[in-house]
Amino acid sequence: MTATSRISLITGANKGIGYEAARRLGALGATVLVGARDRARGESAVKALRDEGTDAHFVQLDVTDPASVAAAARHVGERYGRLDILVNNAGVNVEWPAAQPSEVCLDALRTTFETNVYGLIAVTNALLPLLRRSSAGRIVNVSSEMGIPAWLAGSEIPAITGYSLSKAAVNMLTVLYANELRGTSIKVNACSPGFVATDINHGVGVLTAVEGSAVEVRVATLDADGPTGVFINDGGTVAW
Ligand SMILES: NC(=O)c1ccc[n+]([C@@H]2O[C@H](COP(=O)([O-])OP(=O)(O)OC[C@H]3O[C@@H](n4cnc5c(N)ncnc54)[C@H](OP(=O)(O)O)[C@@H]3O)[C@@H](O)[C@H]2O)c1
Repeated sequence: MTATSRISLITGANKGIGYEAARRLGALGATVLVGARDRARGESAVKALRDEGTDAHFVQLDVTDPASVAAAARHVGERYGRLDILVNNAGVNVEWPAAQPSEVCLDALRTTFETNVYGLIAVTNALLPLLRRSSAGRIVNVSSEMGIPAWLAGSEIPAITGYSLSKAAVNMLTVLYANELRGTSIKVNACSPGFVATDINHGVGVLTAVEGSAVEVRVATLDADGPTGVFINDGGTVAW
């Protein structure tokens, strides 16, 4: 589907994969709302995007702050009257590089869930009324294969317990939202950018953020006959 004039909000878009997804959507002609919790970082990203010709706008959005989420939804509603694309990209991994379940810190788990899970739900629910006003709403939940039990079973990859649990919850939420919204024009899918070198993993990933962002935009621009309730990575649809 063309992204021209699509109103798109990306959470955590001031850097990393979210920023590159904003660039890609902007290059496709979308209006890009750069969600960022920090005004200075968000406005700096907006300036860089505008310098490249993107119709970019800063939206203060800390996904863990109910007042910030409500204000962002109110602003989008008043300014644009609808939302076409929501990319739930903001995420943290406070256990990097590993946390075995036997040694997991419950506070780290709670912190991770506040952003990756509760934040995603809060943002999605606040913006859903505006997505319902779109002729073709798309919700992209940025997830990870680390949240798919079948993918991890038997793996020798070191556990990152809270992060994996949070992305497993994101995957389940993707299915639940897709089921709830089936029969509407809104599609809800999860995606994984792959192992990307960003601040979340202290730069040790193997892909660039530019490369990782491609799948976010592919899922954000699915055609009407595209899937809903699935997990997509670089190789296609991954079984839950
Ligand atoms: N990198 C990978 O290999 C990889 C693999 C699979 C999935 N992912 C997922 O991809 C997404 C983007 O991660 P990334 O790799 O691009 O990491 P990143 O460079 O660390 O970017 C994370 C973004 O999330 C924002 N953020 C964190 N907490 C937030 C909050 N409470 N409210 C609003 N924004 C918040 C950050 O903002 P600040 O600048 O203010 O901190 C930043 O903009 C995450 O969901 C991550 O789990 C990444």
